[in-house]
Amino acid sequence: MGCHCQMLWLVLASVMVATVEGCDPGDLKGLASFRGGIHMDTSGRLAKWAGRGCCRWQGVACNNRTGRVTEVHLPGFISTTDFVFQSQMEGWLSPSITLLTSLEVLDLGGLVGLSGRIPTSIGRLENLKKLYLYGNKLTGPVPDTIGKLLKLEELHLHENRLSGFLPPAIGCLKNLNVLLLHSNGFTGNIPGSFSNLTNLMHLDLHSNSLSGRIPENVGELQLLEEFDLSENFFTGEIPVSVNNLTSISVMYLDTNHLEGEIPFPSNYGVMPMLGFLRLQNNQLSGKIPPNFGYLVSLQRVSLENNKLQGEIPSSLGNLQALTELYLGGNELSGVIPKSIGRLSRLIMLSLSGNSIQGPLPDEMSALQNLQTLDLSFNSLNLSSIPRWLAELPSLSRILLAGCGIEGQIPDLLRLTPSPIQELDLSANYLIGGIPAWMGNLTQLYSLNLSRNHLSSSIPASVVGFEVLGVLDLHSNNLTGSLEHVFKIGTSFPGGSLTYIDLSDNSLTSGIDQIGVGTLERLEYLNLSHNLLEGQLPTSVAKSTALKCLDLSYNKLGFGLVEGLANLSNLETLKLQRNHFTGGIPVEFLNLKNLKDLDLSNNLLVGEIPAGKPLSDFPQSCFTGNRGLCGKPLSPCKS
Ligand SMILES: *[C@@H]1O[C@H](CO)[C@@H](O)[C@H](O)[C@H]1NC(C)=O
Ligand SMILES: *[C@@H]1O[C@H](CO)[C@@H](O)[C@H](O)[C@H]1NC(C)=O
Ligand SMILES: *[C@@H]1O[C@H](CO)[C@@H](O)[C@H](O)[C@H]1NC(C)=O
Ligand SMILES: *[C@@H]1O[C@H](CO)[C@@H](O)[C@H](O)[C@H]1NC(C)=O
Ligand SMILES: *[C@@H]1O[C@H](CO)[C@@H](O)[C@H](O)[C@H]1NC(C)=O
Ligand SMILES: *[C@@H]1O[C@H](CO)[C@@H](O)[C@H](O)[C@H]1NC(C)=O
Ligand SMILES: *[C@@H]1O[C@H](CO)[C@@H](O)[C@H](O)[C@H]1NC(C)=O
Ligand SMILES: *[C@@H]1O[C@H](CO)[C@@H](O)[C@H](O)[C@H]1NC(C)=O
Ligand SMILES: *[C@@H]1O[C@H](CO)[C@@H](O)[C@H](O)[C@H]1NC(C)=O
Repeated sequence: MGCHCQMLWLVLASVMVATVEGCDPGDLKGLASFRGGIHMDTSGRLAKWAGRGCCRWQGVACNNRTGRVTEVHLPGFISTTDFVFQSQMEGWLSPSITLLTSLEVLDLGGLVGLSGRIPTSIGRLENLKKLYLYGNKLTGPVPDTIGKLLKLEELHLHENRLSGFLPPAIGCLKNLNVLLLHSNGFTGNIPGSFSNLTNLMHLDLHSNSLSGRIPENVGELQLLEEFDLSENFFTGEIPVSVNNLTSISVMYLDTNHLEGEIPFPSNYGVMPMLGFLRLQNNQLSGKIPPNFGYLVSLQRVSLENNKLQGEIPSSLGNLQALTELYLGGNELSGVIPKSIGRLSRLIMLSLSGNSIQGPLPDEMSALQNLQTLDLSFNSLNLSSIPRWLAELPSLSRILLAGCGIEGQIPDLLRLTPSPIQELDLSANYLIGGIPAWMGNLTQLYSLNLSRNHLSSSIPASVVGFEVLGVLDLHSNNLTGSLEHVFKIGTSFPGGSLTYIDLSDNSLTSGIDQIGVGTLERLEYLNLSHNLLEGQLPTSVAKSTALKCLDLSYNKLGFGLVEGLANLSNLETLKLQRNHFTGGIPVEFLNLKNLKDLDLSNNLLVGEIPAGKPLSDFPQSCFTGNRGLCGKPLSPCKS
């Protein structure tokens, strides 16, 4: 109700004002051209632009003395006290927008369908303080003339490279994100004229296709507080002049092709406000500078996935404000410095995938706030988990894959001060069984014990995992029945499990119990390379979210149940090397999303149901059966 009245009032107001108040002719022409370029506006704002009183139009503001338009404010995301709304505009950004020569604020952010370029005439908008053209479909270069906007304080051109996610093309490559580019966003270099913009405080160009080097003179932007060039194609070194950015608090240069050494801070007191730093996913080399400890305001830092070498400098212990430190995926060596124990605010520490050696310094026991510790895949040779680690008061995510841990799953983990939520002890040398007490880890949502030498049955107590989402026990020597796994998380609506990998073990039974619990969220089930016998029950049809089902290399028999055809999200179905008999149910033609199929080496007979998707797969998916025929194999003899 209130909303309708307000709109009516606005329409009336603009009609009334039109008769008494004009609009600068240049401004009016600019706005009309802008509107002319837009052929769809789901917000309905432009439709209400009537008459000549442009100062009363929605999203337009004027200087009440000069009558000139000073603000055009039409963001895609509309939030009022009454409602929140993501609107869209389809169309083209008219270059005539630069006729509005008194503009101070131009906000066309988040209008997903807006294409076009930044007009070279942008330099005319000499009064512009804020330019928001982010989250659109704009392309082309950032024109050199932008260097004429000497009053510019905020420039947001980020996220014009639009990306969506395609379903993975092959198999169950669960983590493969295939980028679908709808728009490349801005291309070309950062123009040299940028150094003119000495009033700039916020510069955000992330997620475009910009390339070339970061200008050497970027340090001249003395007021710059937020600087984001991430997710572009920048090359070359980080300019030394960043040391001159005395106001910088956020610097994100991650996910580019930057190389060379980290050139800052050159000294104590340089970049004194830098709190948030991301340099991950580049090719930076050399050592982490010993001066890094001078960046005393740092709160969150990621240097992950570079080529950094050498030891972690002990000066890092000076970063008293640090809460998150990501150094994984480099070539760091040496031992963890004792000074790390001084990082009393640290919540997250990831050093995975380096060549760091043991032993761990006892000083780490002082990390009272540490919640996540990831030391996976280093040269730590821990042999056992230190007692102090299990006693860290806040620790709930323990990631110690490939750390050379030997012996049984340690009792230490039985009573940790904070309930364990994530435990990864994969790729170690664990022996013995999965202890019954583990079922008491009721908060666990991810358990990875894969690639060890565990050799027990799966205890009934696993039903205690009330919220478990991910269970990976592959490549052990687990025996007996897997039935208890299907009872995990059943009190959770729809079941809690999304991922089960028990492949490459010696499990023999329990597949018939797959329907006992709800597995409506399950997307990945891999039971391949076991000794499973019996029949796949029709109740498998209840796991409607399944994308990947791998039962290959077992001794499963009987017919292929039609229930499999109910799994309409299935992308991968691997049933090869079993003893399945009978024909392929015609219902399999319903598996429209199937991209990877293997039914080879079973005892199947009869005609392969004709049509997609079955006919699209190569012969090798059907060979080695008792008597299959029809496309793609040779025709059936009638
Ligand atoms: C004109 O705008 C200024 C600043 O926005 C404001 O302070 C002033 O009250 C306005 N004057 C009139 C007559 O509306
Ligand atoms: C930089 O600013 C000066 C005025 O200070 C102006 O004359 C010059 O054209 C600008 N440079 C560029 C490349 O826009
Ligand atoms: C940093 O600024 C100082 C003085 O403002 C200047 O002398 C120096 O050349 C600048 N350094 C870099 C690397 O731009
Ligand atoms: C780690 O321990 C294994 C044996 O447990 C040994 O073969 C290896 O050399 C050790 N590596 C290091 C770096 O100490
Ligand atoms: C479990 O750990 C193994 C080995 O470290 C790894 O390859 C696998 O991806 C992990 N599983 C999950 C579900 O992340
Ligand atoms: C699990 O915890 C309960 C209550 O804390 C305790 O009685 C039980 O013995 C524990 N079970 C195991 C197997 O440790
Ligand atoms: C797995 O366990 C079974 C039964 O305990 C044993 O016979 C077999 O040798 C084990 N296999 C491996 C590879 O350790
Ligand atoms: C299932 O597990 C086996 C053995 O661990 C592995 O080789 C296979 O790639 C997995 N299947 C799928 C579809 O991920
Ligand atoms: C499978 O789908 C068929 C047809 O859509 C339906 O009749 C049947 O009840 C479904 N089976 C299960 C177990 O959901």
